[in-house]
Amino acid sequence: MYSLVGRTALITGSGSGIGQSHANILSKAGADIIIHDINAEGVEETARLVEANGRKSFKLVCDVRDVAAMKAGIAEAASTLAPVDILVNNAGIGSQRLSLLDIDEDTYDAMIDINIKGAFFTTQTVIPAMQERKFGRIINTSSIFGLAGNVHGSHYCAGKAGLIGLTRAWAQEFGPDGITVNTVAPGFIPTPMTLRPGDENFRAARCERIPLGHEGETQDISHAVAYLASDEAGYVTGQTISPNGGIVVA
Ligand code: NAI
Repeated sequence: MYSLVGRTALITGSGSGIGQSHANILSKAGADIIIHDINAEGVEETARLVEANGRKSFKLVCDVRDVAAMKAGIAEAASTLAPVDILVNNAGIGSQRLSLLDIDEDTYDAMIDINIKGAFFTTQTVIPAMQERKFGRIINTSSIFGLAGNVHGSHYCAGKAGLIGLTRAWAQEFGPDGITVNTVAPGFIPTPMTLRPGDENFRAARCERIPLGHEGETQDISHAVAYLASDEAGYVTGQTISPNGGIVVA
């Protein structure tokens, strides 16, 4: 386990699934956590996990698309807890397996606004304090569908590929400030976003295509994030790590 003692991590969308697991694992590694989500109940649940791990938390409940609310919340967290050392842009919505032919303008806008605009302006908000301290870790959340595309959900694939583009640009822009920027691109991880009733046969068939033979678990992604957030990953920037059981190369 990497030590994150003395660090403060903002994890967007950490009221559920993979983000909640990040809050658990990063706080176990010693980080205090700014727990953000649009879902207040989820934020409370995650805060209990962080506190059980003996770390401090700050709760930020707002829509990641609301730039003013995010800025105000991050400023309040900086004054009551600490400025952000580690930002994990994790909040997102799923593709609902829609065909291009069925994606209307509102659905498209929500996808791009939550998955890209949210990460864009949250990063813009935390960077100046990182520049002052000459240290920062930004971790964007893409997907295997951002790497390889998918038969459906092209708006999701575009958003997730776009996050890899932001990583590559920001790694160059902010490297001179001691800030690393990387992407984690999860494979198939059962969470409230991806689990659907009656999906068992579909999931079993999908596992047959995964070289390691099974879906991942939320902590498989969180351990990659803990590494990217650590001092030991200080020379790693502009990269994408994809814990996916080998599905993309297969
Ligand atoms: P999840 O649905 O369990 O968690 C997503 C969280 O984001 C939820 O707590 C939700 O309330 C929050 N959120 C959604 N819209 C928001 C908004 N407008 N403002 C603030 N918070 C908002 O899903 P999961 O699976 O944990 O997903 C986490 C990230 O991992 C997402 O970016 C997703 O695209 C990505 N991912 C997930 C994969 C999987 O198989 N579960 C695979 C590849 C990527």
